[in-house]
This record gives sequence, C-alpha cells and structure tokens, in this order.
Amino acid sequence: MPVRDATTDDAPTIARIEAEGEEGSAWTRAAVELMLERGDDALVLLAESDDGPVGFLLGTAIADEGEVLMVRVLPTARRAGHGRALMDAAVTRWQQRGVTQAFLEVHETNTAAQALYQAQGWAPVGRRAHYYRDGGDAIILRKPLPAPSVH
Ligand SMILES: CC(C)(COP(=O)(O)OP(=O)(O)OC[C@H]1O[C@@H](n2cnc3c(N)ncnc32)[C@H](O)[C@@H]1OP(=O)(O)O)[C@@H](O)C(=O)NCCC(=O)NCCS
Repeated sequence: MPVRDATTDDAPTIARIEAEGEEGSAWTRAAVELMLERGDDALVLLAESDDGPVGFLLGTAIADEGEVLMVRVLPTARRAGHGRALMDAAVTRWQQRGVTQAFLEVHETNTAAQALYQAQGWAPVGRRAHYYRDGGDAIILRKPLPAPSVH
C-alpha cells in the first residue's frame, strides 16, 4: 500500500477525499494548504492505489509528541489496508525524528477507526465529554513509539 508525503499540488485531492467522507468537509483545500506550509512539524501523507489517491493522514509533531488530526480513506477503497499503511507511515516518520509518543481523538461510536487503532497498539488514556458537534464523547488514545532499533 504505497504512501508518500504530500505536496502543495495534492491539497485539492486531499480536500476532495475529505469531502467524499460521511461527515462533511472539516479539511478544506485552504486548511490542507496551511498544514503543508507549516513545515517540519506537520505531517501530510497520501495513500495511493493503482487507480490513484485513495486516502490521507494529517498530523503534527511538536518536540517528542505526535498527534494524528485525521486519517481518512475513500468509502470505496476501505478495508484494503490503506488506513493501516497511513498510520504505519506516520509512526515511522515520527520515530525517525525522535517522537516518543503519539495521541489522537476518536469518536466514541467510530468502531471502524477504533478497531484500526487498537490493532496497532493505541490504548485509551482519557475521554473528552461532548467533544463532537453531535454531542458525542471523544476517546483519547495514546501509542508509545519506541526508538527504531539500529542494526
Ligand atoms: C478508519 C479508516 C481510516 C480505516 O481505513 P481503512 O483503509 O478501511 O482501514 P484498513 O483497511 O487499513 O483496516 C485495517 C484494520 O482496521 C480494522 N478495521 C478497519 N475498518 C473496520 C471496520 N469497518 N470494522 C471493523 N474493523 C475495521 C480491521 O482490523 C482492519 O484489518 P482487516 O481488514 O485485516 O480486518 C476508514 O474507515 C475511514 O476513512 N473512516 C472515516 C474517517 C474516520 O473516521 N477517520 C478516523 C477519524 S479519528
């Protein structure tokens, strides 16, 4: 499942994938462009299939702490490993730059995302009550990122 760092040219594609999601467009083209302009602390990844781009991940890393802001795969391309590949790539990028732990928030009813994260070693560490617009709670998940082994 190929994943690469996105460039400014990919901002419209990422905004389109976001817009095809179920929940509307939190990440507009302008917002994605701002992320791409942030430089080193921002992580913008694109997942590609043989048919073109199918998913993206937005994250930040400040000092030794990473945060996944969004990971999304086109509804038609799900359960093919792209979400897992995006998360793996984020972890690898962060480990390479000395990030030692990462956090994310997930809606309490988002069982697909929770299954993905739990399978990858993310564990609940807290909860934000009524965090989402629909009144739902956010579950805060954390993943420790051990330094990559050197051979
Ligand atoms: C969450 C999301 C990114 C997963 O992407 P994906 O490409 O379908 O995930 P993968 O194919 O890599 O799945 C990896 C594993 O996660 C788990 N998983 C993913 N979707 C699942 C689902 N609908 N039900 C149960 N488990 C699921 C499974 O363990 C899966 O492995 P398997 O297919 O071998 O059983 C995708 O469902 C999505 O874009 N959802 C909408 C946006 C969203 O909610 N993002 C998270 C915001 S916090």
